[in-house]
Amino acid sequence: MRITTHSKCDPINPTIIGLFENEKPDSGRLGKSLAELIQKHQKQKSFSGKSNESVSTHLSKGEKLQKVILFGLGEENKLHETSTRNFGAKMIRASADFQQKEINISIPPALQNHLQALAEGLIMGNYDPALYKTDEEAKKKGEKKTNTINLICTDWNTDQRSRLEKGKSVGETVNYIRTLVNSAPDQLNTEQLVREIKLTAKENQMKVTDFDKKKLEKMKMGGILAVNRGSAEPAHMMVIEYNPAPISDNRKPKTENPLPIVLVGKGIIFDTGGISLKPSTHLSDMQLDMAGAAVVLGVFKLLKQFDIKRRVVGIIPITDNAIGNTAYRPSEIVTTYSGKTVEILNTDAEGRMILSDALYYGATQYKPEYMIDFATLTGACMVALGFRTAGLFGNDEELLDKLNSSGKNTDEGLCVMPITDADEKGIEGQLADLANIAHDHAYAGASRAAAFLKNFITDTKWAHIDIAGTAFTKNPKDYETTMATGFGVRMMIDFFEKLPFSVNE
Ligand code: BES
Ligand code: ZN
Ligand code: ZN
Repeated sequence: MRITTHSKCDPINPTIIGLFENEKPDSGRLGKSLAELIQKHQKQKSFSGKSNESVSTHLSKGEKLQKVILFGLGEENKLHETSTRNFGAKMIRASADFQQKEINISIPPALQNHLQALAEGLIMGNYDPALYKTDEEAKKKGEKKTNTINLICTDWNTDQRSRLEKGKSVGETVNYIRTLVNSAPDQLNTEQLVREIKLTAKENQMKVTDFDKKKLEKMKMGGILAVNRGSAEPAHMMVIEYNPAPISDNRKPKTENPLPIVLVGKGIIFDTGGISLKPSTHLSDMQLDMAGAAVVLGVFKLLKQFDIKRRVVGIIPITDNAIGNTAYRPSEIVTTYSGKTVEILNTDAEGRMILSDALYYGATQYKPEYMIDFATLTGACMVALGFRTAGLFGNDEELLDKLNSSGKNTDEGLCVMPITDADEKGIEGQLADLANIAHDHAYAGASRAAAFLKNFITDTKWAHIDIAGTAFTKNPKDYETTMATGFGVRMMIDFFEKLPFSVNE
């Protein structure tokens, strides 16, 4: 999708005009006939500008027929990032009626305060999840999809254009990771996810290291290897590194912290549960179990464009959790990369097994300033918080506050959850150091999982974000479709943008 900026409306294209309640149309920007058309509707009370009101009309005869949609933006003083993102999505959806590749969208200047959110909404709202449909109707729909938006507002400056571009990239990245998460496990297997990570690294000139099964064996990454045993494909752990360009202008760094920030993402291609096989009702969407990996990859696609002045390292362990005669079994004892032993009580608690190695590697190899992991880790988190709020766990209040406020900024809900002494006690092993689920495992499952992870982070400031409930949806928001939401990328970019600079070059 192209979004170009203009200060006048070209009357050839079909046009969506965003207007606040009772806003006087700007004839300078819209031209005389469009302004009169709006006034006519306002006078007739067929359009008032109430939030999300949408009226299809056209310019009167005698002129070239121009399809027009008047779109209500509500009260100007109620406008914020989230409403703007929603408006963007609704406008692009309304434009489907035009069946035109190129359209105009006119916006009042107040929307220019939220151009990133607007572009995010426009791009995310344009996402089509029909990845594998082959019928004619789907093809036709694709052919008539809007691919150019002429965005019209009175003036544009460089800063505004850059925000628009950033929003566009965020939207495209969210759509990209939605596709990764929606992809069927036979279409996006371990090898293909590895390829996507390598491609992202190449496109952004980032260093990428591929720890294949042989290397994982050498390093004694027992957690990942145990989960991988039943899988037809060998496991990988990918490490991707972003090093910022030197600070070239005279902005003064506020802190001097050369330590990187490590992001870790759970990359289970498909979670059958293993020998502790999931019931069939729980199996159907389990391709989503690499959503944490997708979030991390998405963030790496954006770091350069957002000119983030931090070293960032992404660690992504990838494997299937499959069933078969070589699969790891309940009651086995696994020695993790950290040296800690784990008794397996349930092979469906596999996420914490692969994360244990990735987190310990991140903590010891990089001694990061912060380490943050994303994982579709527990159904229990979904039971506790539902589908719109991710569980936020960790050991550093300042880090949790930062993440929480970024989530608020980007309409991605988080709720701080506890890791109590009882949770830590709950996952102590009988024979080994740890058990991969608590012996009385019916309660506080999300906290127990977090307590398990806590054993592998040494003294790092750490946050764990359980996205089991938020990675997929059956009740999409304006800018979502059913299935993958892309939850997490926007919040992380906001988090990085708001961190003080550090000197890393
Ligand atoms: N991938 C699942 C968690 C999950 C469930 C994600 C539903 C998204 C939607 C995870 O590996 C898992 O199976 N967790 C178990 C843990 C249990 C065995 C302690 C669970 O939540 O049931
Ligand atoms: Zn599982
Ligand atoms: Zn899982």
